[in-house]
Amino acid sequence: MKIAVLPGDGIGPEIIHQAVKVLNALNIGIEMQEAPIGGAGYESDGDPLPSRTLNLAKESDAVLLGAVGDWKYDSLPRESRPERGLLRIRKELNLFANLRPAILYPELASSSTLKAEVVAGLDIMIVRELTGDIYFGQPRGISVLADGQREGINTMRYSESEIRRIGHVAFNIAMKRNKKVCSVDKANVLETTELWRQVMIEVAKDYPEVELSHMYVDNAAMQLIRAPKQFDVVVTGNIFGDILSDEASMLTGSIGMLPSASLDSNNKGMYEPSHGSAPDIANKDIANPLATILSAAMMLRYTFNDEFNAGRIELAVKKALELGYRTADIYTAGTLKVGCNAMGDAVVAAL
Ligand code: IPM
Ligand code: MG
Repeated sequence: MKIAVLPGDGIGPEIIHQAVKVLNALNIGIEMQEAPIGGAGYESDGDPLPSRTLNLAKESDAVLLGAVGDWKYDSLPRESRPERGLLRIRKELNLFANLRPAILYPELASSSTLKAEVVAGLDIMIVRELTGDIYFGQPRGISVLADGQREGINTMRYSESEIRRIGHVAFNIAMKRNKKVCSVDKANVLETTELWRQVMIEVAKDYPEVELSHMYVDNAAMQLIRAPKQFDVVVTGNIFGDILSDEASMLTGSIGMLPSASLDSNNKGMYEPSHGSAPDIANKDIANPLATILSAAMMLRYTFNDEFNAGRIELAVKKALELGYRTADIYTAGTLKVGCNAMGDAVVAAL
């Protein structure tokens, strides 16, 4: 098992360090090699996705990524900004299927901003398409109109095959869960998502046991906080998935708890927390490493088919929470506030 470890920016290095510690503690012979991405890549190689990083990622079985981005790069040309490195590696590795599970650990029911009874037992899988949509559609850019004012353009577009393949991913996952897929679109306004809905209905024919429903994205945003437990698998496009997964993360107490897997059609994958680089809390040893540690568990499950060790990590996280350990983002009175490093140690000890 060879994995590329890309710490990135902000809290990236400190949270990655905890996940690496946990993987090493499993003692299952994982070979890890580090390379820069995002702002770190720009600093070292003048490129948010240096070619040595991309090559390492391509020749590895999986990629474990921290986070990218820092406000100090906001004035750089778009191509040099950290986020471009992330979007390019997703595209280059063809990681079209982004799985973002939102699970509420019972110990964190009171950390959520929603009432405990609304979120208790929550277990949603958001399947976000990751290499298409308005994120990548051409034409795009800012140009100057004939009258001298500027105009910004982005293009929302999906081909039928792009929709079909993410549809199959969602339905296959639903088959292993509660057999419900909710496809989120804006088919009442946007043709791209009208096609999305048609193709999802076609894909559903291959999965007669799975119940398919459709929801407009505005309603989905509302339902996610009104009655989140109605959802099992949610499948949606890149931009809607970006927004809804941040929203879903708060159901679980903190975005610091939400891992993710981004897979290609052979289950090669990149694993990263769903949260960002949080430069404001970097190097203070207060970030929550659990989303990254749980992402490493997803790596063992999806790329290495090692359900046993994936489960061990998840149980160790649960145990650390049961013992009362909390980083600041999930702290509530009566629990034990610890830093990033100590939380990593608590998971290792639980292992
Ligand atoms: C995410 C992030 C990224 C995205 C950013 C950092 C480009 O928000 O992974 O959800 O928009 O996809
Ligand atoms: Mg996002």
